[in-house]
Amino acid sequence: MTESTRFAGRRVAVTGAAGGIGQAIVERLLGEGAEVYGLDRRGVDTLPHGAVGIEMDLGSPESVASVVARLYAEDDRPVDLVNSAGIVEDNVPAESMPIEQFDAVLGVNLRGVFITCQAFGRELLARGGGAIVNIASMSGNAVVNYPQSQSAYNTSKAAVTALTKSLSVEWSPRGVRLNALSPGYVDTPLNYLKADMHDTWKRDIVIDRFATPAEVAGAVAFLLSDDAAYFIGSELLMDGGFSLR
Ligand SMILES: NC(=O)c1ccc[n+]([C@@H]2O[C@H](COP(=O)([O-])OP(=O)(O)OC[C@H]3O[C@@H](n4cnc5c(N)ncnc54)[C@H](O)[C@@H]3O)[C@@H](O)[C@H]2O)c1
Repeated sequence: MTESTRFAGRRVAVTGAAGGIGQAIVERLLGEGAEVYGLDRRGVDTLPHGAVGIEMDLGSPESVASVVARLYAEDDRPVDLVNSAGIVEDNVPAESMPIEQFDAVLGVNLRGVFITCQAFGRELLARGGGAIVNIASMSGNAVVNYPQSQSAYNTSKAAVTALTKSLSVEWSPRGVRLNALSPGYVDTPLNYLKADMHDTWKRDIVIDRFATPAEVAGAVAFLLSDDAAYFIGSELLMDGGFSLR
């Protein structure tokens, strides 16, 4: 765990906190002194020690609103936001994808991110500012993955970046700074079901390995920090060189 006090006194909520990347973000921010709320629709009782786990479904505006109300009920300090929750459940050729599957992926990855940005962003605007980091993906704007078909996922991630830019123009002049982080392949459960594809993917990763969740967490911490004050609506790509080949 990185030990520093960079985020002492700051409160940060992390969605998808029970996931591979979310857990690493929680750990990193705790290690740098933040008070961290880990939000997920499952597994919030096994978060790293020191985090407050709260069950939340970002597909439900009511669920998100009640969590936001709880976070501000006894403490008025701003709560920054990291959106790490996401699903990739669409390894199906586009011509045969049921529309329900497309909706499900966009429902979490795009609609859910809008809902959380809106609910948390509103409170930050009312308190003079804060920071939001949305995890997009290299699959949004930099590459189209191969050999799997994931048109819904890729589209949702391009949209997360577009949303981040749009909200930046609306909110950054009022102190709410948003950025998107776009990782390449990361060693997390999201990819475990596709183990037969790992060799194909690695052929295009210039440094021949997946990112670790901790490396992603380090980039999130940077974007949340004051060192990134001039990053406004940026998409930061960290893909081990995958998109260069
Ligand atoms: N792993 C990768 O290779 C990779 C690469 C690029 C981007 N990403 C993105 O990084 C983020 C985190 O991915 P990960 O690898 O940690 O995945 P993961 O599957 O390990 O974790 C995702 C978490 O999101 C939670 N979640 C899903 N839907 C939810 C909902 N409706 N409400 C609340 N929580 C919900 C899940 O319960 C899970 O704990 C995702 O947005 C993913 O698209 C991952």
